[in-house]
Amino acid sequence: MTNEMDTETAPVYTKDNPFLSSIVDNRSLNRPGSMKETRHIEVSIAGSDLKYEAGDSLGVFPANDPAAVDELLQVAGLGADEEVTLPRHDEPVPLREALIRCLNIGQQTKKFLQALAGHTSDPAEKRKLDALVQPASRQEMMEFLSQREVVDLLKVFPGVRFTAQQLADQLKRLVPRLYSIASSPWVYPEVVHLTVAVVRYRTNNRDRVGVCSTYLAERASMHRPEVPVFLAKSHFRLPDDPDRDIIMVGPGTGIAPFRAFLQERISLGAKGRNWLFFGDQRQEYDYLYGDEFERYREEGHLNKISLAFSRDQEHKVYVQDRMLEESRTLWEWLQGGAYFYVCGDAHRMAKDVDQALHQIARESGGMTEEEAASHVKLLRKERRYQRDVY
Ligand SMILES: Cc1cc2nc3c(=O)[nH]c(=O)nc-3n(C[C@H](O)[C@H](O)[C@H](O)COP(=O)(O)OP(=O)(O)OC[C@H]3O[C@@H](n4cnc5c(N)ncnc54)[C@H](O)[C@@H]3O)c2cc1C
Ligand SMILES: NC(=O)c1ccc[n+]([C@@H]2O[C@H](COP(=O)([O-])OP(=O)(O)OC[C@H]3O[C@@H](n4cnc5c(N)ncnc54)[C@H](OP(=O)(O)O)[C@@H]3O)[C@@H](O)[C@H]2O)c1
Repeated sequence: MTNEMDTETAPVYTKDNPFLSSIVDNRSLNRPGSMKETRHIEVSIAGSDLKYEAGDSLGVFPANDPAAVDELLQVAGLGADEEVTLPRHDEPVPLREALIRCLNIGQQTKKFLQALAGHTSDPAEKRKLDALVQPASRQEMMEFLSQREVVDLLKVFPGVRFTAQQLADQLKRLVPRLYSIASSPWVYPEVVHLTVAVVRYRTNNRDRVGVCSTYLAERASMHRPEVPVFLAKSHFRLPDDPDRDIIMVGPGTGIAPFRAFLQERISLGAKGRNWLFFGDQRQEYDYLYGDEFERYREEGHLNKISLAFSRDQEHKVYVQDRMLEESRTLWEWLQGGAYFYVCGDAHRMAKDVDQALHQIARESGGMTEEEAASHVKLLRKERRYQRDVY
């Protein structure tokens, strides 16, 4: 039976049917001289009927760099207009378009090496590839793959010949990337703000780029409805009770949802106190949205701000160091019912912040290790400790 309400309220635009949004602002958040490249990107969702909430993420379908695709076509000896069929596409797609919009031409897996072995006319190449995919060579294979994209692999093994369709069949789909939304719908109902770290690195003597971050930063046109997006709903949410205090720990791009939280709390006149921990490399160059936060502090909206600029002194100072310096106050806020939020790097930062939280419970809460662990667990269960980490 069809539920009429559901049918009426269901969003038309989803991951399977993304909305073609326009970028309406794209500016650097770092000052000249910074070693980072972080951009503030505004994406218009006007006319989409998409309703976001502070804490949600935006899914973005990127496009590969056409110049990289042209190099791949040339190395593969394939024509741009050769048509390929792709899963979930009703019509054949020209290969160049498929490689730009639909297929991952970046790092590959063992399966691709096996396909290379099956399509090379050179016995020496086949032997090398067969050896590389043996279980005993796993470490070597992983290292080899992590340094190379499709075009590099085709250059290493020039005896490989794929037809257009064979190449398309071997490549995985280009998947969307998520970005934490840095604006509140109460202030910007039709525009979604993002804080994007542009990924660039070098492997195997070649400069590499992150597909989606560089697509947003430099390849997507401004003011043209061409960026496919969808909303990714989250459990990362402000307290229902606006009188509750919140503590937000968001170094680097982890700042994004907290800018949204602050906009929202200020626009709704929430009475709870706001405490922000932010960190990045150098204050002069990397204090993302610094003008806004300093204004919030002066206006009394940001009750406390603790800054950790890691490279402004000889030794590293991180957000968790600032937490520990303020251990007693932080514990008092938590005991008073504050919510504790963490956003940003999952690999190192979020783990270290979690450890600092345990240490604070021990040192300022007078708890044993076991008591601290179960206290933090309880905070999580009560949804007073929430993480949006990646
Ligand atoms: C819930 C969620 C929220 C997120 N929010 C944000 C956000 O607010 N802002 C933000 O910027 N990102 C955010 N991200 C990360 C974002 O989704 C992308 O992963 C990021 O932008 C990189 O995507 P890309 O396409 O540019 O890079 P990709 O093309 O995916 O390349 C990244 C890959 O490059 C390789 N790589 C990167 N650096 C190196 C290196 N130094 N050496 C060797 N290999 C390397 C790694 O294999 C890495 O996985 C979020 C992720 C999630 C899951
Ligand atoms: N797994 C990884 O290798 C990894 C980790 C983080 C980010 N990234 C990627 O790097 C890009 C930029 O990220 P970002 O701009 O969000 O910033 P970021 O690289 O996370 O850095 C923000 C701040 O956090 C500091 N930091 C480093 N290690 C930390 C730790 N263990 N605990 C607390 N703080 C720590 C950094 O200091 P220093 O740089 O001076 O040490 C910097 O001052 C993104 O694309 C992100 O995905 C990758």
